[in-house]
Amino acid sequence: MYLTRLEEKMLNGELGEAVSIAMKAIVKVGEILGASRLVEITHSHISGISYLNIGDPGLEFIEYLSSKNARVRVFSTMNPSSIDEDKIHIFNISKEELAKQKKIVELLVKMGVKPTLTCTPYYIRKPKLGEHLAWGESSAVAYANIVFGARTNKEGGPLALFAAITGRTYYAGLHLEENRIPKVYIKVNTRIDNAVKAGLLGYYIGEVVRGKIPYIDATILYDESTLKAFSAAYATSTTTPHALLKGVSPEEKIYDKEFIEERIIVDEKELIETLNKLVDQDTNESRKTLFIGCPHLGISEIHYIYDLASKGKIGIEGIIISTSRYVYEKAKNIIAKLESLGAIVVKDTCPIVSRLKIKDYLITNSVKAAFYMKRLHKVKVMLRDVN
Ligand code: F3S
Repeated sequence: MYLTRLEEKMLNGELGEAVSIAMKAIVKVGEILGASRLVEITHSHISGISYLNIGDPGLEFIEYLSSKNARVRVFSTMNPSSIDEDKIHIFNISKEELAKQKKIVELLVKMGVKPTLTCTPYYIRKPKLGEHLAWGESSAVAYANIVFGARTNKEGGPLALFAAITGRTYYAGLHLEENRIPKVYIKVNTRIDNAVKAGLLGYYIGEVVRGKIPYIDATILYDESTLKAFSAAYATSTTTPHALLKGVSPEEKIYDKEFIEERIIVDEKELIETLNKLVDQDTNESRKTLFIGCPHLGISEIHYIYDLASKGKIGIEGIIISTSRYVYEKAKNIIAKLESLGAIVVKDTCPIVSRLKIKDYLITNSVKAAFYMKRLHKVKVMLRDVN
């Protein structure tokens, strides 16, 4: 693999041990993937922050890098943790787990990672068309590629951290123009006008394209909730988190029917079959918890929920809403009003990466949340749009 003089120095340990460890790992992965060189990145987003997900091995890995004086070289953000420290009483977390969670965040902050604790880093720093990133949160990766035309693979937590430390990643996968060209044409014959339908479509397409990039010809409501729901669900089932959405993706011009190898038609029927596969039929409404906020809600989504609640169009009592501390701060007045109506707004975490106390039945508008709550937390799930 070709390395610049600076990259060679990084590899040889001339810029410190942590940089050398990180560079060796990136070069090794790049060589396995056939990368001819590295590429500089502008933003790393580090996943694997929740102690409940990474456990002691994850904490020890971060401690090890910290002991080698690791520092990030580019703007770096972190994914949600397992706790909202202002609402500890609604989580099942032991004192020991809490201390270890705090340690993880503390060590990363010491390295220079911003304590954003969100899966929506694009609200904090909006990616640019063609920009190279190393992001480790699948829903955000898909959103960055599809909606902004930025370039990132789905990195594991350690590799995203190594990319942050070196300011580089391997030049392979979705960083290369040729790997972003759609090979599957998908015609969607039903209007996609809410988050649940968008999530079902995303999940279905991710399953059928089998790693190829699709060009999706759909009438899709162009708003952030729909596009976030599509991206998160698509990233749940695909191995290649990029697609071109007609009328949405800024890279739409690279669609060329000459390269299309397969055509797929999606009707309402496919979405209903996907829904039936994901949800439970036994709907015990008295044991339900309602959840909105996977991915974390943005400011306008919070205003929308409040608007519906204040007009009595949705019941808000006991509903769990998750968002980032960034959005929480910006929308604190409206969040206070939502909480006065009985909603529980959590920041820095979500029910999937934490042990938030919920009843044994979860109703959500997020296909990604439904998928993981069922598998990781063994609760029954139902999908329902907010209005
Ligand atoms: Fe974010 Fe949690 Fe969903 S991290 S994408 S709200 S699973």
